[in-house]
Amino acid sequence: MNVSLFGLGQVGCVTAACLARDGHRIIGVDRNLRRVEMINAGKSPALEPFLDALIAQGRQRGLLEATDDPEYALHESEISLLCVGSPAKENGQIDTFQIEQACLDLSPALRTLQRYHTIVIRSTVVPGTTENLLIPLLEGATGRSASRDFAVCVNPEFLREGTAVADFDSPPYTIVGQNRETDGLPVRRLFAALPAPLFQVSLRMAEMIKYANNAFHALKVAFANEMGMLSQAMGLDGQELMDLLCADTKLNLSNYYLRPGAPFGGACLSKDLEAVLFHGRQLGLQPPLLGAILPSNEQHQERVLDQIRKAARRNITFLGLTAKKGSGDLRGSAFVTMIRELLESGYIVRAFDEDIPWDSVRTPDPAIFPDGLGPLIRDVLSPSLQESVRLAEVIIRPKPLSSAREQEFLALLRPEQTVIELAHQRGREGPQS
Ligand SMILES: NC(=O)c1ccc[n+]([C@@H]2O[C@H](COP(=O)([O-])OP(=O)(O)OC[C@H]3O[C@@H](n4cnc5c(N)ncnc54)[C@H](O)[C@@H]3O)[C@@H](O)[C@H]2O)c1
Repeated sequence: MNVSLFGLGQVGCVTAACLARDGHRIIGVDRNLRRVEMINAGKSPALEPFLDALIAQGRQRGLLEATDDPEYALHESEISLLCVGSPAKENGQIDTFQIEQACLDLSPALRTLQRYHTIVIRSTVVPGTTENLLIPLLEGATGRSASRDFAVCVNPEFLREGTAVADFDSPPYTIVGQNRETDGLPVRRLFAALPAPLFQVSLRMAEMIKYANNAFHALKVAFANEMGMLSQAMGLDGQELMDLLCADTKLNLSNYYLRPGAPFGGACLSKDLEAVLFHGRQLGLQPPLLGAILPSNEQHQERVLDQIRKAARRNITFLGLTAKKGSGDLRGSAFVTMIRELLESGYIVRAFDEDIPWDSVRTPDPAIFPDGLGPLIRDVLSPSLQESVRLAEVIIRPKPLSSAREQEFLALLRPEQTVIELAHQRGREGPQS
């Protein structure tokens, strides 16, 4: 394909060099003339293994050139990749100046272009930037329509500096953010040869996934360092500890515990976190990340309570007292804590939980329901899904019901009832495929 690529920095150079190696014709555009000269001299302006050789090869094969003329680049290409910087301002807010400027730079050519052109945002931008800022900017500057005369897609880049060429060749996946399926077609063609799954999502989801990934990576590093710090103080080998942690690919390095929804509870997580924090304090250590987990969970619990309060109804039903399907162990249940708070505030609370046998509730055995839970459970728990739903104005769903019960629930649900869904939480928009 004929590709113009705006921004010959770290990401732009790797993308340009690799795409040229793969046989595409690349016209790189940069406002920094030194970078343009270096590419045209067959040298890499970015320090990255293999890049010098790839750029030299691209030049020799006549597949790679650089210019400071956006008009020339646009007229020579069918797709434009925008890889300009998106640095942070002092207050942390993203500075969109470079990407806005790049859109304005290519607009005069886009205005007069006779054929369809696709603009692809590869820079990292916060969700909504493309839809609310860049598309209106392009439409205003060209007098043309993004849904008719040109397409705008988001295609975030996942390469890491130092291994960028290998990462380009073997990405975790290709993400194509698009408004319509046809918009992303040229992007899918451009990256068709990559050995990676491809996901077509909304523009905002494609923008957000980059932030979620990077936040997760940062979280992992900070977690490993805090575990290393605690290990060292306990005379343990932190590397060995994390090797063991990573050897569990069932619960640790897996999609387990990675669903937004209910706050955590249960017999162990809070208790063990408190214990490790206490032990750390005795060693003179206060790991900030570990220390933030319980407050974060409490805040999440408070958000669920707020949703209930905002519904401004008195009859509340919890369809589950634990977040874990199959578990009726109420020790440390976040929902029991919420129910106590709601009862104290004058709400009428009922609950139905398939995982707690009704026989054990009628005459609650303290061996099954410790911590004085028995009377509370007897008061709120109902053996009947039908009654629990019928009497409810607000329904909280911490976990999925069995499929037969789910059908029954859906049949019982009335339009005026408010459902707070924690088990299948979705935003206003889901992925398009
Ligand atoms: N560096 C990484 O490892 C990495 C990885 C993934 C994603 N990203 C994201 O990719 C984007 C680019 O990152 P980078 O590290 O390559 O940035 P960079 O700062 O190294 O390069 C940006 C380039 O864009 C050029 N530029 C600025 N305005 C321009 C314009 N109007 N027209 C043409 N060129 C223009 C600059 O001169 C510079 O050469 C950022 O949004 C970044 O967050 C970076």
